Amino acid sequence: MNERFLKACRKEPVDTVPVWIMRQAGRYLPEYMEVRSKHSFLEVCKTPELAVRVTLQPVERLGVDAAILFSDILIPVEAMGVPLEFHEGRGPILGRGLRDRADVEALRVPEPEKDLGFVMAAIRILRRELADNVPLIGFSGLPFTLASYIVEGGKTRDFARLRAIMKNDPQTFAALMDKLAETTVAYVDAQVKAGAQAIQLFDTWAGILDPADYKARVLPYTCRVAEAIQGRGVPVIHFTEDCEKLLPVLKELPVDVLSIDWRVPLDRAAAIVGSKFVLQGNLNSETLLRPLSEIEAAAAEVLKRGQVAGGHIFNLGHGILPKTNPETARALVEAVHRLGARN
Ligand code: CP3
Repeated sequence: MNERFLKACRKEPVDTVPVWIMRQAGRYLPEYMEVRSKHSFLEVCKTPELAVRVTLQPVERLGVDAAILFSDILIPVEAMGVPLEFHEGRGPILGRGLRDRADVEALRVPEPEKDLGFVMAAIRILRRELADNVPLIGFSGLPFTLASYIVEGGKTRDFARLRAIMKNDPQTFAALMDKLAETTVAYVDAQVKAGAQAIQLFDTWAGILDPADYKARVLPYTCRVAEAIQGRGVPVIHFTEDCEKLLPVLKELPVDVLSIDWRVPLDRAAAIVGSKFVLQGNLNSETLLRPLSEIEAAAAEVLKRGQVAGGHIFNLGHGILPKTNPETARALVEAVHRLGARN
């Protein structure tokens, strides 16, 4: 078993820097598109055999140091009673959005094994199939990012409705965050019991808030989720886009790893959060569209800056782009292992 990733999460010595790629199973892989030509995205998520197959594709092709369960952060939101659709090129659509306290009351807290059993089934099969290979990362969205999709009914540019509820109806916002925290704790707990060996928590849109609002109205719910997982003994990774201004607050999080977006050099992030955290990241996904020599130079730079952190897990600073050549992704993994080797 290649334990490099888990060792790095725990700050134990590693032979080289571990690497995996956000959205490593996805549309840039022809073998993924082959599965998608016969099944919708949600069908793949909800059919354990298909979710398992696409989860394994990048492990086999790229030689990454971890697998991440193939699913979506919005899957448990649908189980709460929110209609969910994906349309080509438009991103997710979630009904008419959330308006008032009655809409919050109408949301159910799912029972993971019953309502999301397909996720736990996929995790159990994956652990068997990955036994001699790499560890499996489970994941969930965090309450704020899930709330943004539920309130807006999809992805928006300005998050106007979300900001309006936070400002004009803070009790409704808090009730929603509370229900989402309860849902997320139960969901992640079930993933760990099924066999997930680390958990990445996605708070993609938290970076739209100023640090004071984030600290008062989001941080407590994130802490509730992260503490529950740490109590189970598996490493926790936190990701947010555009994280720089939040870093002075994020350093209060009870997590092992902070995933840093591509905008902030890792040494600058480390100077803010200190050496308590392992940092994950953060090559710009656009760089993978450049020639190999430039990619290697950029990866070497990320590795160099990552050395000053409490530890380093190489990744992109956000998801891999659909137009990336899979051969380039494979070459990146090889380059990180070669350039990151400790001797
Ligand atoms: O990283 C992995 O390989 C694991 C699988 C995974 C997906 N989504 C697969 C996916 C994970 C961890 C996610 C997380 C996710 N989903 C986030 C947080 C991370 C981030 O990217 O910021 C968010 C905000 C979502 C919501 C979501 N799902 C969006 C906005 C979209 C549409 C974007 C697009 O490119 O169309 C999705 C769909 C989605 N999730 C795809 C994949 C592979 C594309 C589906 C397809 O068309 O086949």
